[in-house]
Formats: sequence, structure tokens, C-alpha cells
Amino acid sequence: MECYTILLFCLTLLNNIAARDTITSLQSINDSETIVSASEIFALGFFSPHNSENRYLGIWYQKFPAETAVWVANRDNPLTDSSGVLKFSENGILVLLNHNNSVIWSSNTTRLVQNPIAKLLDSGNFIVQDSSKSDPNEEFLWQSFDYPSDSILPGQKFGRNLITGLNRYLTSWNSSDDPSHDIVMHSATKFIARHSDLMAGVLAVKGER
Ligand SMILES: *[C@@H]1O[C@H](CO)[C@@H](O)[C@H](O)[C@H]1NC(C)=O
Ligand SMILES: *[C@@H]1O[C@H](CO)[C@@H](O)[C@H](O)[C@H]1NC(C)=O
Ligand SMILES: *[C@@H]1O[C@H](CO)[C@@H](O)[C@H](O)[C@H]1NC(C)=O
Ligand SMILES: *[C@@H]1O[C@H](CO)[C@@H](O)[C@H](O)[C@H]1NC(C)=O
Repeated sequence: MECYTILLFCLTLLNNIAARDTITSLQSINDSETIVSASEIFALGFFSPHNSENRYLGIWYQKFPAETAVWVANRDNPLTDSSGVLKFSENGILVLLNHNNSVIWSSNTTRLVQNPIAKLLDSGNFIVQDSSKSDPNEEFLWQSFDYPSDSILPGQKFGRNLITGLNRYLTSWNSSDDPSHDIVMHSATKFIARHSDLMAGVLAVKGER
């Protein structure tokens, strides 16, 4: 019994060591790998929604299945196989590559740095920072919170950033199998996650934008 407890403890320890929350400029993640935020609240990796066979890079609650993704990178550009790889390009932006190394999604970094590092925070925000700066409050070079999908997480801002002018809005999935952009929602309400009622707000269908 004691042996078993110790074994379990070691396995847990190993598991914790194995789970990382960052991607450095020399690392990458492929379709069978995930990164997990420090307190194991969120995970980032590849998933297929419901009945779909397409693969998407997304963030989900670690305790819930990946198909409850709260953020999706390549919404309109699904991978058709499990060959996707997320890594930093030579010029320091995050790129998602397909089987023939074409970039199907990339982060939009404001400033290029020598040693970028990507990190999944416990808030569910996936951020890119300059790893040579140790100040944790240093502004992010890029953050997924600036590009909401159909869910707003606590701490995530919504609407226009008065400094950068970036307009952050929610867009619902086309269907539960297809995260591609469908309805665009500009500000006004707090939540438009799948399965939740739409409360208020200004809606514009794709094409009117
Ligand atoms: C992903 O990378 C791991 C570790 O490098 C490797 O064992 C695994 O086979 C890779 N999976 C895919 C789908 O390429
Ligand atoms: C690589 O991807 C591009 C863009 O999707 C496509 O046009 C091209 O045919 C692909 N090449 C191969 C060899 O699959
Ligand atoms: C990055 O942002 C700039 C300015 O908003 C835009 O012109 C450019 O197309 C964006 N690039 C990517 C890869 O999204
Ligand atoms: C959304 O779904 C409809 C019906 O399933 C389909 O016809 C349409 O092409 C989809 N839109 C996008 C942007 O994929």
C-alpha cells in the first residue's frame, strides 16, 4: 500500500515535470502535445470539434474536453490532418505550420525580439513575451486575449483598446463542428459562449463587415 502511494506520488511528480506551460524559440508543439498553465487550469493544443475531423489549435479548460475550447487560433483555416506544428518563426512570431510547412496562422507581434517565449497563463491568456526581460509585468508582445473567439474569460477585456485602437469582439462559431467565423458581435454583452443565451449587443453577419 505504501509502495503504491509512493509510486503514485512519483508518477504525479513526473507528470507535473512533464507538463510545461511555455514554448521557447527553440521548441515547438505538435498534434500530440499540449502545454498546460502553471496551476493546470487551461491547456493549449490541437483538437477536433465534435463530429469534425479537422484539427484546430486552441485553448480549453484542462478539466473539460478539448471541444469546449475557449479560444481557437486557425478558426477559418482548419488543418485536415495531424501534421500541425506550432513554433516561433525565425523572425520571432508564432506560426502554425501545416504538412507542407505553409503558415496557416500566425501571431501578430507588435515588436520583434531576439528571444521570444510563449506562455499559457492560468487566466487562459496565451501570451508572447521577451524572455530576456525578467519583469513579469512587462507588456506582452502578443496575447490571445486581444483576439477573442466566442468566449470571454475573467480578466479579458472587450471592445476597443483606446491605446492601440485594436477592436476586440466576439464571433460565434458557425456550428459546433465548425469554429469558422459566423456572426460578429461588437461589444455590449459579456458572454456569447456556445450553449449560452445571447443577451444583448450589436450583431452583424459576416459579409456586412
Ligand atoms: C510529437 O512529438 C513527440 C515528441 O517529440 C513525438 O514523440 C511524437 O511522435 C510527435 N507526434 C506527432 C504526431 O508528430
Ligand atoms: C502546400 O500548401 C499550399 C497552400 O495550402 C498548397 O497550395 C500547395 O499545393 C501545397 N503543396 C503540397 C505539395 O501539398
Ligand atoms: C498585423 O497587424 C497589422 C496592423 O493591424 C496588419 O496590417 C497585418 O495584416 C497583421 N498581420 C497578421 C499576420 O495578422
Ligand atoms: C457555415 O456553415 C454553413 C452550413 O453548414 C456552410 O454552408 C458555410 O460555408 C459555413 N461558413 C463558413 C465560413 O465555413
